[in-house]
Amino acid sequence: MTVKVLVAGDANLDLVLAGDVVPRFGQAEQLLESAQLVLGSSAGICASGLARLGTDVALVARVGRDLFGDQTVRLLRDNGVDTAHVLRADAPTGLSVILSGVGDRAILTLTGAMAALTPGDVLQAMARTLAMSEPVGHLHIASFFLLPVLAGGLPELLAEARAAGFTTSLDTNWDPAETWAGVEACLPHLDLLLPNAAEAVAIARSLGGESTDVQAAARFLAARGPIVAVKDGAAGGFAVAGDGVFHAPGLALEVVDTTGAGDSFDAGFLSAWLAGDDLATAVRWGTAAGSLSTRGFGGTGGQPTRAELAAALAAAT
Ligand SMILES: Nc1ncnc2c1ncn2[C@@H]1O[C@H](COP(=O)(O)OP(=O)(O)OP(=O)(O)O)[C@@H](O)[C@H]1O
Ligand SMILES: [Mg+2]
Repeated sequence: MTVKVLVAGDANLDLVLAGDVVPRFGQAEQLLESAQLVLGSSAGICASGLARLGTDVALVARVGRDLFGDQTVRLLRDNGVDTAHVLRADAPTGLSVILSGVGDRAILTLTGAMAALTPGDVLQAMARTLAMSEPVGHLHIASFFLLPVLAGGLPELLAEARAAGFTTSLDTNWDPAETWAGVEACLPHLDLLLPNAAEAVAIARSLGGESTDVQAAARFLAARGPIVAVKDGAAGGFAVAGDGVFHAPGLALEVVDTTGAGDSFDAGFLSAWLAGDDLATAVRWGTAAGSLSTRGFGGTGGQPTRAELAAALAAAT
């Protein structure tokens, strides 16, 4: 029997606008080529990626009592995610408006209801999971810096999760304030830290690490507790545990949209690691899941099934 994964974090929709998207003020009306409303959020995309890979996964998050909240839940369910722990809050559902230009984009985000997620919400989901599943599960946290209430109590929550038999992981994503405050206290309670290359260097430097080299930064962070698995865009990624470093390249394919590639990497890495595969395999699964996710539009449009991922890896070697 496989473990249940709880992914706790952000949940929102992405409104992706393309065409003449560089705003001109003065009430100028600009015409778009397309406008699409899709599932966004690091936690929502990671949970969808895990479900697509056949993992039993529930999202723990807060959305508003509004149309966007209903649609977020509907899209998660369509992707196979258990939404029993997606709670409502008295605030509008979070939204990211993405102005998608040629080779670059601007992202305007309202965190809204997602920021109301509490450690108590996650504890409740853990208690229900413990009552229902055997062996116990894994807790993955995404988007630390968008969730101030959860972040404030995260070290204690992670410690409780581990005491209850859960394994733990964190993908902080970027800190808009760039202070990286609060991450240090979480490190001893994590089995896995899943930053991208820029985040790994920035977190290590915020803790006194001197190097701008990403592998040195990952080693610095790994010395404080977790296995560190680093995402590095088209180049792929690597994991550091103790003295070991395990690299895997990205897959060469025609990229449609890289939104959420990091969250899909997390899903691939976690699904292999939780199945007991070694770190070299887990990194390969992470990079392949990240690369394959770029085949389709939005964060979840290109996410692979287990069979598709295995076939892509077999073809690449
Ligand atoms: N252009 C690309 N071509 C092929 N694979 C890619 C490309 N971009 C990303 N990937 C794959 O996706 C994985 C994760 O991507 P990336 O390093 O961009 O994560 P990230 O910065 O956390 O992204 P985000 O937080 O925006 O989802 C990489 O390890 C790689 O395997
Ligand atoms: Mg990321």
